[in-house]
Amino acid sequence: MSDNQATLNDGGKTITMPIKSGTIGPDVIDIRKLYAETGKFTYDPGFTSTASCDSALTYIDGDEGVLLHRGYPIGQLAEHSSFMEVSYLLLNGELPSSDELSQFSRTITRHTMLHEQLMTFYRGFRRDAHPMAVMCGVVGALSAFYHDSTDISDPVQRMIASHRLIAKMPTIAAMAYKYSVGQPFIYPDNSLSYTGNFLRMTFGVPAEPYVVNPVVERALDRIFILHADHEQNASTSTVRLAGSSGANPFACIAAGIACLWGPAHGGANEAALNMLREIGTPDRIPHYIARAKDKNDPFRLMGFGHRVYKNYDPRATVMQQTVREVFASLNVTDPLFETALQLEEIALNDPYFVEKKLFPNVDFYSGIILSAIGFPTAMFTALFALARTVGWVAQWNEMISDPGQKIGRPRQLYTGPAQRDYLPVDKR
Ligand code: SDX
Repeated sequence: MSDNQATLNDGGKTITMPIKSGTIGPDVIDIRKLYAETGKFTYDPGFTSTASCDSALTYIDGDEGVLLHRGYPIGQLAEHSSFMEVSYLLLNGELPSSDELSQFSRTITRHTMLHEQLMTFYRGFRRDAHPMAVMCGVVGALSAFYHDSTDISDPVQRMIASHRLIAKMPTIAAMAYKYSVGQPFIYPDNSLSYTGNFLRMTFGVPAEPYVVNPVVERALDRIFILHADHEQNASTSTVRLAGSSGANPFACIAAGIACLWGPAHGGANEAALNMLREIGTPDRIPHYIARAKDKNDPFRLMGFGHRVYKNYDPRATVMQQTVREVFASLNVTDPLFETALQLEEIALNDPYFVEKKLFPNVDFYSGIILSAIGFPTAMFTALFALARTVGWVAQWNEMISDPGQKIGRPRQLYTGPAQRDYLPVDKR
């Protein structure tokens, strides 16, 4: 990294702060000594101009619509790679050899079963519990079962916990779906691919054989790739902050799941399809565009806009292409896809969206495919959490492995009352 300096004039006192450069992307001003030298904090609610860490995992250029995982463009990974291979890449930093990939896939496959006692956790939920509520509860409970992989100071235990989480998320998510529809849980079948196993656990029944549709398997595997990691987004930052206190990896991932659930974040895929269903037909699009532009209306176009992308989200491009491929291959259509395409066309030509640089994001089209595959809308964010788990554990490992790592503890601008003395109740 090359270093130069930034200077700050604070009431006549000049403060110099080092500027650090990464491989590519914006430089950073190292402000770690600012409070000690000025008695002042920086102020950045929402962290719009704040780098929270060093990371070598994922790079995003929001202006150019670029997304790289360990340097590889998301479009190339989506076209040529698999979710298992991208998982290996995120965890280890390089694409695997054929033997390395086989070994990694075997390792993950052999962790797909859950402790039998965990099944009783599901029985405690109402059948109509939101799958994300189940995911939060069951994943958090994993730390009560896998004590032999909670010592975060041991890199071997960290990797075992990472493999367990990547492997068990499909089983946990599929069980959440089965419980919601009153069908029996389906055990993993280790002869299947990671994604094929998930499809069978979700849609298979004991009464008859389940044959994985290769088109659906490939499309869903690609959707998992698109959701694997995304720099320091809200849920990843949640995982890092939880991990910075030394919490065990299962608790950290449960925290990430909770954060992802929000409709401004991972919950947007569910909200986007619900929005498209509410809009219904293209003739109703202008009404909803007007609502999205109305400052007095809390309505937003779900699946549109992004804190970082001020250009088209490259994942949305691949997602739209995948909708076309899956529909053509399965010979299905969905009028909501036409509505989504027209909504995008109208929005991208509207000055409001152009000026604010609001483009479709990863969540705009994903629900249309997931719905065509057969997932209920409530499962969409659980699938996002399933895929993002590899990114969360990779970011968590990167943080814990950093010798300079310390507990995350932001400060504040205090706006409450100055000190005052207690008044007895008869004096108030
Ligand atoms: C994900 O961070 C990540 O990387 C997340 C993610 C990942 O992979 O981890 O990419 C996944 O979360 C994608 C985003 C999914 N969320 C949605 O689709 C929900 C709808 N989008 C918005 O709520 C919003 O765009 C956010 C939350 C995504 C980003 O919000 P910002 O960066 O804080 O921007 P903002 O809310 O300050 O909006 C800037 C302006 C505002 O207008 P002004 O107050 O400046 O006049 O744009 C407007 C907003 O009102 N705006 C929208 C809009 N999004 C922003 N107006 C209408 N519709 C929208 N969708």
